[in-house]
Amino acid sequence: MTNYAENVTVPVVTIDGPGGAGKGTVASAIAAAKGWHLLDSGALYRIIAVAGLAQNIALDDAQALVEMAKGLEISFAHEQVHVNGENFTDAIRTEDAGNSASQVASLPTVRDAIFNLQQGFRRAPGLVADGRDMGTVVFADAPVKIFLDASAEARAERRYNQLKNNGLGVNLRALLEQIQERDARDRERAVAPLKPAKDALIIDSTKMTIDEVVATVMAQISSKIE
Ligand code: C5P
Repeated sequence: MTNYAENVTVPVVTIDGPGGAGKGTVASAIAAAKGWHLLDSGALYRIIAVAGLAQNIALDDAQALVEMAKGLEISFAHEQVHVNGENFTDAIRTEDAGNSASQVASLPTVRDAIFNLQQGFRRAPGLVADGRDMGTVVFADAPVKIFLDASAEARAERRYNQLKNNGLGVNLRALLEQIQERDARDRERAVAPLKPAKDALIIDSTKMTIDEVVATVMAQISSKIE
């Protein structure tokens, strides 16, 4: 069993919030600015969902998903995701993969199965972790916790523009419905529901630019850690 206790002095910034609020972009910018490690915890749930579906495992078959997850060799390097040697980078980024991830993420045993893996990302000189339960569960002792929110409409519009720029045809209303459905599932689940930690700074990015959000988070880090 790995002893993570030795890493508890390594600073962690947690960035939780609903999909499309800008967590990933902000987390990458902060990690790059600080020279810290990055954990995209949503990618882990996406990988389990996509790998499970590829093996014809039902998304509610917790036991089979956990068994499968134990055998996955996951590597994140140079913005590419490899699973057992196969490139998963694009496959895990689709809307379907996000919705499937939200289904497997509601299974407590699946969450338990990747708990230690996530804590293993806490390495010097620091970690920026983005997800839904980084500040409430996985790094509950983190010195800086951010909850990044935005209206569902703003998040749907951002996603719409992103997909359109990538040449993909999408329907804004359908996107909004998917976002609202995923939000409801993430907020209402029994285990590790999406909610701000008691000591989190809540940032509503609806009317903010990414640079403004990054500056707010950097100021919070300076006031809490340095
Ligand atoms: O952040 P991302 O959109 O990649 O997350 C995909 C899904 O994974 C979320 O909708 C959520 O259900 C789940 N998730 C989670 N806990 C995390 C990160 C993601 O439950 N820490």
